[in-house]
Amino acid sequence: MAKDQQTPVEKLTPQSATKELERLAKLMAKADLAYYNDAAPLMIDAEYDALRRRNMLIEEKFPKLVREDSPSNKVGATPVSRFEKVEHAVPMLSLDNAFNDNDVDEFYTRIKKFLNLDSDATLRITAEPKIDGLSASLRYEKGVLKVGVTRGDGKVGENVTANVLTLDDVPQKIKDAPDIVEIRGEIYMSHADFAQVNERRELEEPGKDLFSNPRNAAAGSLRQLDSAITALRPLKFFAYAWGETSEPLGKTQSEAIEKLALWGFKTNPLTKTWARVDEILAHYREIEKARADLDYEIDGVVYKVDRLDYQDRLGFVSRAPRWAIAHKFPAEKAVTTLKDIDIQVGRTGALTPVARLEPVSVGGVVVSNATLHNQDEIERKDIRIGDKVVIQRAGDVIPQIVEVLLDDRPKKAKPYQFPDRCPICNNKAVRSKNEKGEWDAVRRCTGGFTCSAQSVERLKHFVSRKAIDIDGLGVKQIEQFYLKEYVKEPADIYTLEQRQIANEIDLYTYKDKTDDPLLKEQGLTKKKSQEPTNKKSIDNLFKAINDRKNPPLDRFIFALGIRHVGEGNARLFAQAYSRFDAFQQAAIAAYVEQPTNGDVVDDEENRHRAEMLAIDGIGELVAMGVIEFFHEPQNQEAVSRLLDHVNPQEMENNNDSESPVSGKIIVFTGKLEVLTRDEAKAKAQSLGAKVASAISGKTDILVAGAGAGSKLKKAEALGVDVYTEAEWINLISE
Ligand code: IVH
Repeated sequence: MAKDQQTPVEKLTPQSATKELERLAKLMAKADLAYYNDAAPLMIDAEYDALRRRNMLIEEKFPKLVREDSPSNKVGATPVSRFEKVEHAVPMLSLDNAFNDNDVDEFYTRIKKFLNLDSDATLRITAEPKIDGLSASLRYEKGVLKVGVTRGDGKVGENVTANVLTLDDVPQKIKDAPDIVEIRGEIYMSHADFAQVNERRELEEPGKDLFSNPRNAAAGSLRQLDSAITALRPLKFFAYAWGETSEPLGKTQSEAIEKLALWGFKTNPLTKTWARVDEILAHYREIEKARADLDYEIDGVVYKVDRLDYQDRLGFVSRAPRWAIAHKFPAEKAVTTLKDIDIQVGRTGALTPVARLEPVSVGGVVVSNATLHNQDEIERKDIRIGDKVVIQRAGDVIPQIVEVLLDDRPKKAKPYQFPDRCPICNNKAVRSKNEKGEWDAVRRCTGGFTCSAQSVERLKHFVSRKAIDIDGLGVKQIEQFYLKEYVKEPADIYTLEQRQIANEIDLYTYKDKTDDPLLKEQGLTKKKSQEPTNKKSIDNLFKAINDRKNPPLDRFIFALGIRHVGEGNARLFAQAYSRFDAFQQAAIAAYVEQPTNGDVVDDEENRHRAEMLAIDGIGELVAMGVIEFFHEPQNQEAVSRLLDHVNPQEMENNNDSESPVSGKIIVFTGKLEVLTRDEAKAKAQSLGAKVASAISGKTDILVAGAGAGSKLKKAEALGVDVYTEAEWINLISE
């Protein structure tokens, strides 16, 4: 962004505002195109949002200067997703990260413990480069490539078969393959090809935006509607995993990878198998050294347990396998100037400072914003506007300021004053104390439902890709609809069509500014606007909204934006309660007035609260987030209005509902001999049981290993069924 054009809005004259609005309209149109059509964003979301805010402020100040092609008028202009959606037969998982040797060591020890192996036992691990591209799954039926799908959200991806067929590295047919086999791996662009693609782009269309890195070039090239364009882009593919297979591919990861190579797939030559943790770490350093000479981008090393029977036993948690981890390379750094600090207000009212930087290239990506986390972070590092700062960027993580170069500090730089009022609604912004009496790092706006920033952020979160995922209802549309007061809360989204039909709102037509005297004065003429120009996209939007009236329960819970409830926790709640009403009623019933005399409320006094806390993976903080959310009358009312239009699907338990322990609450105690505690818990959960840590009247089964003590006594006193480990294994293998 050109810095000379950042004249404060209040200082703009009608002439300079006209120019600025034109600049913003062009810049944002270019950004849209790059984002939607080339999948190669020109800027990060925060920067785009800042442009739009600026545009809106200028339009508010000079309403007569609003352009026909104003970014604010582009309601519903986002193209609806253009590729057919395909559900993965086996989810495409992501990987947990290790950032140092210690994390890798812990990974290794954790696995051995889970598998009950002696600490000096051999556990073979493969180590291979983590390719920085985009993953895809290729499904072969009877040896013929049937469908190629992007990863998408891991459950559902996009059908890009015609495009993957243009890759030389993707065989159309494979010999001696099982009836069904899904080959997974990374689509990427080499450095050399990336440079050529950009050169050609510049030659053919001078001034056209270039791809900022090979990964974006690969993504933009794969997501072309016209596969002839993909064919012109030199994409490559490394195979490193698989999804559904009608026959096992081998006994070990390395055997399976050899088979993929036999079928004609490229597999990474730096893949090696080792027996000790110091060996895989040495291999990591080898790959790190080789990194600069490789012709493709890598961002770490992936370790995988070699034995496939071990992989099966280890299974996965949330969306990452227990049997693999990505050891990331250290972040890349650069020095730049901090131009300003903006405060953004999130959906929970958190005030987040964002650093506006002199744009600088960090590892091939231009960075102009960085997160400053919170007030303490700014004070601790004494970060001041005007400072020279060291920033670092690691993978997809938002860039951060790691250091201030104090020697270069301008003389007049003053300590930053963190605002104590919300910059949007001007309500007080406060920091509260937690139960330990420590100050919360985050300052929050106290405006709640009256703060427009919070409401808009909640709406954006509701429609976002990982939540309800409404195609064509993006960040821009939400802001527009909110500004026009068409949508104030999630329930309003579902009445848009009905209100359009009743002519209560008008989403179809642009404002006609032909007779605008100011435009005439400036010698500008506008064509009379035609018939509704965006009717089709609005109709598509209505369709997309209607398509999302029965969201999966986990997405619905996540979409509500409850504090501390991310995707993973939402899934745990959905699995535990199966139905939304059960979840909501339990949360409402779980609210306990805190006694004012300082007494602590015993879990046992509230069965619903105890049950919620018994869900493995749900702790006090998350449970309190849920309980407090549903205790708030305004939230209850908003949810109830939403449920008038939306019917969350009952969670189909992937777990085995036929199993003898399905739905039962199990507690393990004492030393188990055959299974490890982790394995026993994971197995019980996969059979549909809930694992709790304490005995209560709700406990169904206590599995008592050697040396069981007080829990066993309590269980007996309460009449809970008690099993030995052998009896338990017998029960679950029925
Ligand atoms: S294995 C169940 N191996 O990293 C294991 N992933 O951060 C699935 N990736 O979504 C992944 N190189 O796109 C694996 N050698 C490699 C990889 C790799 C790159 C990507 C993949 C995955 C992401 C997770």
